[in-house]
Amino acid sequence: MIVGDAAINQRVSQRFHLKPLRADDMENYLRHRLRVAGHATGNLFSPTAAMEIFNATHGVPREVNRLAKLALEHAWVTEAAKVEAAAVPFKVAVLKGGTSSERSVSLESGGGVAKALRNAGYFVDEIDVQDTGITAEMRNADVVFPVLHGGFGENGDIQKSLEDAGLRFVGSGSEASAIIIDKIKSKQLMEKHGIPTAPWAVVTKGNRAFPSSLSLPVVIKAPREGSTVGIAIAETVEEWEAGLDKCFAYDSELLVEKFINGMETTVGILNGEPLPVIEIQVPGKIYDFDAKYTHNQGETRYLCPPENISKELQKKAQEIAVKFYQVSGARDILRVDIFITKSGEMYVLEGNSLPGFTASSLVPKAAGKTGLSFEKLCVFLLQCAMKRPKS
Ligand SMILES: Nc1ncnc2c1ncn2[C@@H]1O[C@H](COP(=O)(O)OP(=O)(O)O)[C@@H](O)[C@H]1O
Ligand SMILES: [Mg+2]
Repeated sequence: MIVGDAAINQRVSQRFHLKPLRADDMENYLRHRLRVAGHATGNLFSPTAAMEIFNATHGVPREVNRLAKLALEHAWVTEAAKVEAAAVPFKVAVLKGGTSSERSVSLESGGGVAKALRNAGYFVDEIDVQDTGITAEMRNADVVFPVLHGGFGENGDIQKSLEDAGLRFVGSGSEASAIIIDKIKSKQLMEKHGIPTAPWAVVTKGNRAFPSSLSLPVVIKAPREGSTVGIAIAETVEEWEAGLDKCFAYDSELLVEKFINGMETTVGILNGEPLPVIEIQVPGKIYDFDAKYTHNQGETRYLCPPENISKELQKKAQEIAVKFYQVSGARDILRVDIFITKSGEMYVLEGNSLPGFTASSLVPKAAGKTGLSFEKLCVFLLQCAMKRPKS
């Protein structure tokens, strides 16, 4: 079999300055070409013809597509739709890593997305990103798939670079990302659009006075951190002072929020449509780093469907989450954290424009409940981006 042939590998990578291709990439590549064309059996292009196309084009997606169209014109194939399908670009650059405190989560998420997309037949470059610079691999891709959490990967900076470079990418654009990552900006947005959220105030290093509009207990949050870094609960004046000291290490401006006694839920949104609600039962007081990742205090329970929330309230939570998606200008994917009290009041905590994306993360979990496998979820998101024109 020529697929995976070392000489071709070398030629392709030399000519296009690519990382050396792996044999399984080559095979996936061809299989994908045939499958998206609806011809896993090889009716569209015989295996020999497919190999010829592959060799003649050095495997460059756009060239393969050009030849596929030519094949139609020469009546090698007869159904335009199949050729159109074959012309769907499919070279993906998955961005992972980053430099934020959530780097290790992103490496896992990004690796999982890359693997799923390879399984689906896409041709994937995995890029461990260290800054917001655009690389040749990103430019060479048909679509970029950022799987970065926190820092420049989620605050809109890398999205801005991608926009400036005119590259297509999965997920929210730079403006929406910058609002969603910022808990204070998100609060202002929610207030403006009547989205229910806990009473709040802002304190600064220059003015540490307890906000007159609030009373203890409160939650203090550094506004641009994630995964419960830079967050403190204050039930007493002493805790208030200690909490400020802790959180001012992250930012000179902090969000203070009324502590809500309620059930914690989260709602994923895919391309504007809500996924089933997940109820989160934490072993401690809050859904903190330990409850999310390390589990030293005990296991966190994820209930989907929820046990303690009526269908009506679930529907309401979904509607609120969709509204947040719409007014924030989010794209493709968003996860909205919502508290629901016993009496049915709802309080949106925040949105996450690049939520955890390992196979066991919350959005993939909820998607699974609707029959969308992790692989299909990744492909779906890719297709959302593909439908947009290049910026
Ligand atoms: N106002 C609040 N009342 C009660 N618990 C809260 C409140 N705000 C946050 N928490 C708890 O802290 C966790 C993290 O807060 P969140 O605002 O979602 O920040 P992030 O997830 O970015 O760290 C929440 O999942 C929740 O368990
Ligand atoms: Mg959160």
